[in-house]
Amino acid sequence: HPGHDHAHHHTPAAAPFPTDPAGLPEATAPATLEPGDGATVALTIAPVAKRLDGATVRMLAYNGSVPGPALTVRQDTELTVDVANEGDLETTVHWHGLRLDNSSDGVPGATQAPIAVGGRHTYRLRFPDPGLYWYHPHLREDYTQELGLYGTILVRPADDDYWPPAHRDVVLTLDDLLVEDGRIAPFSPAETTHAAMGRFGNVYLTGGDPAPGLTANAGEVVRFWLVDTANTRTFDVRVPGARMKLVGGDSGRVEHDEFVDGVVVAPSERTVVDVLFPAPGAYALEHHTPVGTHRLATVTVGATPATPDLTAAFEALGGAPDLAAERAGLDPWLAAEPDEVLSFVAELAMDHGDHGGHHAHAHGGHHGPSATADGIEWEDEMVEMNRASTSATVAWRIVDPATGEEPDWRFTAGQRVKIRLVNELESDHPMQHPFHLHGAGRFLVLARDGATEPNLVWKDTVLVRTGETVDLLFDVTNPGRWMAHCHIAEHHESGMMFGFTVD
Ligand code: C2O
Ligand code: CU
Repeated sequence: HPGHDHAHHHTPAAAPFPTDPAGLPEATAPATLEPGDGATVALTIAPVAKRLDGATVRMLAYNGSVPGPALTVRQDTELTVDVANEGDLETTVHWHGLRLDNSSDGVPGATQAPIAVGGRHTYRLRFPDPGLYWYHPHLREDYTQELGLYGTILVRPADDDYWPPAHRDVVLTLDDLLVEDGRIAPFSPAETTHAAMGRFGNVYLTGGDPAPGLTANAGEVVRFWLVDTANTRTFDVRVPGARMKLVGGDSGRVEHDEFVDGVVVAPSERTVVDVLFPAPGAYALEHHTPVGTHRLATVTVGATPATPDLTAAFEALGGAPDLAAERAGLDPWLAAEPDEVLSFVAELAMDHGDHGGHHAHAHGGHHGPSATADGIEWEDEMVEMNRASTSATVAWRIVDPATGEEPDWRFTAGQRVKIRLVNELESDHPMQHPFHLHGAGRFLVLARDGATEPNLVWKDTVLVRTGETVDLLFDVTNPGRWMAHCHIAEHHESGMMFGFTVD
């Protein structure tokens, strides 16, 4: 299992990762690139000094900026990307959500060898679907993605009328960074930390900025393209006082536009919302949690009326025509038994300090509190253990519950497969998992806990909440050796991934 090997790939226990920003170039604002069909883009990975509120920290960047360059391309074009690695450790680039050629998927040990420090690699990309995509490493992403290695790719539809009208597009990466004592909280070069609950940050970076300010005109419809690039955090995004309309998701338009109070975006998911700012004033893009509200960005709206007037278009509710057709054919799939079932499993092992040779599946015995333990109590315990850094190691696995083993899928391009994801509450892991399928295809969420999904959209990542069962319809289109994994970086690195084959 090459993917599996990758999940447990660790840099040899060596010197800690460098943290000193002294002498590094200061991070710049991300470039906006609009390469044409057949163009070549160069990406160089190198350390930068990034100024946060009250601290300057050492981060890693594509082309000197966090996030890396924002690419905009046309649907159905092709692009070559030359990557040079001048960073801290070997890496790859994964092009999240693209149904591209398997050889450019960026999975070490499966589709390429890691790019050594000082090395280079060329990727050939194609963009069959409209929407927002992104790129990030597929090796120690718990460290490298947290440190700033991520960037966006906006794919413009071939058909200009695909999206409803908006005045402007704003692409925003949503991230959080864990900062302690004026520096980024340490990582272990030997293995991922925070493996149980994931690494939640305490400094928010929206478009790479701790406190970004945007401007708009009164009556302006701003299309926000949101992607969650955080290791672990799921965002609940709201704009009090403005009106928000959900128009798209991972790969294009939703089945039907709908007015919403906010949107939930899990790690690696994308959400597209049109926001109408009705009157002059200051608005906040906020992240809501059960215990508080965090300001992600400020939008200052001026008195000049936006032109043209898009109010009537904003009130209209349209949708994706291809999904209306999908809806019409969904009943047999809703009624069918799943073809494949996956279950998420945590294995807890106490670690007495031998971090170097530690491999997830070498863990014996202790499986945490009994299944009768209260879920919340258990969660507190997990958080405690995580705070105690690597004193407890958790291995995460995705298994076929019928066998208790890692699945061994073999599909055929053109096939459709019903997949059931089970995140059982009683299985010692009160976590939610954003489950991601690489570019072998795309999927629709059919149902959650048996309730038919009311608004379809083509997706590559779905959040499976604690205790939830989610049914997917996987549209398999692309041959190759592909990965499926949880997109919480620390879970992924702790074994929550498997490979599958499409003929
Ligand atoms: Cu963005 Cu394998 O993932
Ligand atoms: Cu997970």
